[in-house]
Amino acid sequence: MNDRVISPQPGPDDTQEGSLRPRRLAEYIGQDKVKSNLSILLEAAIKRDEALDHVLLYGPPGLGKTTLSLIIANELGSNIRMTSGPAIEHAGDLAAILTTLETRAVLFIDEIHRLSRVVEERLYSAMEDFALDLVIGKGPSARDLRLPLKPFTVVGATTRLSALTAPLRDRFGVTFRLEFYNERALGQIIWRSAEILHTRLTEDGCTEIARRARGTPRIANRLLRRVRDFAEVRADGVITRDVACAALEALEVDARGLDQTDRTLLLTIIQKFDGGPVGLDTLAASTSEEAETVEDVYEPYLLQLGFIARTPRGRIATRLAYEHLDLPFRPQPPGQGGLWQSG
Ligand code: ADE
Repeated sequence: MNDRVISPQPGPDDTQEGSLRPRRLAEYIGQDKVKSNLSILLEAAIKRDEALDHVLLYGPPGLGKTTLSLIIANELGSNIRMTSGPAIEHAGDLAAILTTLETRAVLFIDEIHRLSRVVEERLYSAMEDFALDLVIGKGPSARDLRLPLKPFTVVGATTRLSALTAPLRDRFGVTFRLEFYNERALGQIIWRSAEILHTRLTEDGCTEIARRARGTPRIANRLLRRVRDFAEVRADGVITRDVACAALEALEVDARGLDQTDRTLLLTIIQKFDGGPVGLDTLAASTSEEAETVEDVYEPYLLQLGFIARTPRGRIATRLAYEHLDLPFRPQPPGQGGLWQSG
């Protein structure tokens, strides 16, 4: 379901996302470790006048992987070509892209874990040796040709590092993991965006949106736009705490940023499966979601909040989830496989 107001996936509502994106590393808020390591990497490559090492970015959707790739290209003063794993269908598509890249260009491959095997294998030599291995002709007259490429940088992005093959992972010089943002960083992002959008916002209005934005800038910016609409239509245009609360309540985004889908997921574990453990596939089927969507989109934030936990036998709802939903905590006794805590 990508029409949720708190979906971390880009939606039709996010067409203005570009204007809110920082363009320089110095403007980028949060992810301090990534930022400081990346700035060293960039400075060293610029000093040596070389292409930047290939960079792999991973983490839940909406945390700024695309934004960082644009910043990398901008800081290098290089062109960027943006594509995604599923968009490069054939080896020929990859060849067309690689042979037209300029020196030190950045090639951003979103969802890189979804590259097909043949395409992925062609990418190995391109990344390692800046060369493209081609087979010319067919049958007995076929012969191998190695086409040199200009030095370039792949910035790969993925929500699931474990889905990447080891040979592909090995071709990246650096791997950065993006973390959920804390409330303070999200507040700064919302404040900055409100300025760009010419929206008036009080400090506690800003904090309220930040608290419910699931640690995700894309969601923070989307909630800001929805609350701004509400403030303009139902109030005097200023986003105060009361206005933010009323708007977010109307959008069914609760105090911790959960929406109906998250609550259904938690209630399913608690009510249909006695608190768990329940396997991912069973949970997904019971909530009419794809297993991959549950794992990549819903679960990361619920895990981060400590509302669910992963065990070898499946997902369980924790005491915090029961408390959040105002339900009495009734863990399964030992032996039945549930979460059991005395006291
Ligand atoms: N907009 C979206 N993500 C941002 C970030 N990390 N810093 C500043 N502005 C942003």
